Amino acid sequence: MRPAPNPAHAAAPYARFQTGRPVTTEVVVQRGAVRDPVRALAQGPEARRSPLFVLTDRTVGALYAHPFVERLRASGRTVHLLIMPDGEQAKSLTHYTRLVDAILQRGIDEASELVALGGGVVCNVTGMLAATLYRGVGLVHVPTTLMAQADAAISHKQALNGDHGKNLVGAYYAPRRVVVDVEVLGTLHQRRIRDGYAEIIKHGLAQDPSLTEALLDHVGDVHDLEVIEAMVRRTIDLKCAMMAQDPTERRAGMVLQYGHAIGHAVEWQSGFELLHGEAVAVGMRVAARIARAMGLADAAVEPLHQRVLDHYGLPTHVPHCLDADAVLAGLRHDKRARLVDGSRLALVAHPGALAMVDGEAAIPVPDAVIAEAVTRLRAPGARGTQWASRV
Ligand SMILES: NC(=O)c1ccc[n+]([C@@H]2O[C@H](COP(=O)([O-])OP(=O)(O)OC[C@H]3O[C@@H](n4cnc5c(N)ncnc54)[C@H](O)[C@@H]3O)[C@@H](O)[C@H]2O)c1
Repeated sequence: MRPAPNPAHAAAPYARFQTGRPVTTEVVVQRGAVRDPVRALAQGPEARRSPLFVLTDRTVGALYAHPFVERLRASGRTVHLLIMPDGEQAKSLTHYTRLVDAILQRGIDEASELVALGGGVVCNVTGMLAATLYRGVGLVHVPTTLMAQADAAISHKQALNGDHGKNLVGAYYAPRRVVVDVEVLGTLHQRRIRDGYAEIIKHGLAQDPSLTEALLDHVGDVHDLEVIEAMVRRTIDLKCAMMAQDPTERRAGMVLQYGHAIGHAVEWQSGFELLHGEAVAVGMRVAARIARAMGLADAAVEPLHQRVLDHYGLPTHVPHCLDADAVLAGLRHDKRARLVDGSRLALVAHPGALAMVDGEAAIPVPDAVIAEAVTRLRAPGARGTQWASRV
């Protein structure tokens, strides 16, 4: 290992400067906001005079974008609608460049705002565009999946995928406002609702045991909007508290990374056979096994993971198409990994609390331990993506 530089030998700075100021993001939870977005967007007078860009994907475009845009136009704004393809393929540098050109061609100014109307993909791509066009223009997220309402939109992390893995090109860039309207989840496929629950479960397992209890108590319709809204509000509270404490997710904020290192590797290496939340569910289950194997977790942790993930019909096995080597290869590009020390994972010590080693929540885990956990939890054979659930 390279020795740490001795601060006594570092060159003295000639000058210093600090840039940027903290941005406050307002999160609004309001039913009907997508049908009537004018008040929910709460644009200031300057932004109201500048062109507004609504970005969406094909499915959400067909379901919600046209009345959304028409209401805004009727209020006197100049509104451009841009539509990207559905799904992860839109999170590419190619689509990003196309959208940059399309926006510049239509005409934008510094007071313009970009509105993401869609799931996590639309929010991430629009976030990257807002962060980079004119070195930063206004951003509003209007998330339309449970994944985005509970997680992706409640975030200042914007990202595109590189050729080597998920979210490798990105920026911290906060939206001015996030408008959550659970009504639109009525048109979301059940598998996608379950998928969004994975991120809510993450907060329960790693941060708040009473949320896990509430999740286990819920039996009934997975589409129940009353229940979903209550869960979304609770998750937003928990996530906002974490972001305020540790915005770049190095210490306590590692809660937000729970299950994601292995989850991203599984999602990417399986060619997106699993949805994001499904892959995170697998990542959490593998992390629970690792924590137990390393002697960092109490005996309740693994069965609790299994129980709550089963309850929501989420996968708990690594797809058969991936072996330990494939998962380890996917982990090479994890952002918390160190080229010298290898993978560093968030692990749960007991329900609602991360394990800490030497004051750190990003814990170095030897490849052999990861390989053992992946092999033990690898699905015995191809079994598709249907799982039984109690909700
Ligand atoms: N920035 C972050 O902190 C963060 C957090 C979590 C996830 N993410 C990212 O979010 C992405 C996943 O987001 P996602 O799960 O929302 O997927 P997605 O954006 O691909 O949306 C999933 C599908 O659902 C459709 N859809 C969206 N809203 C709908 C509605 N109301 N009714 C019917 N269909 C609808 C979309 O058209 C799409 O086909 C991943 O790329 C992930 O990396 C980012």
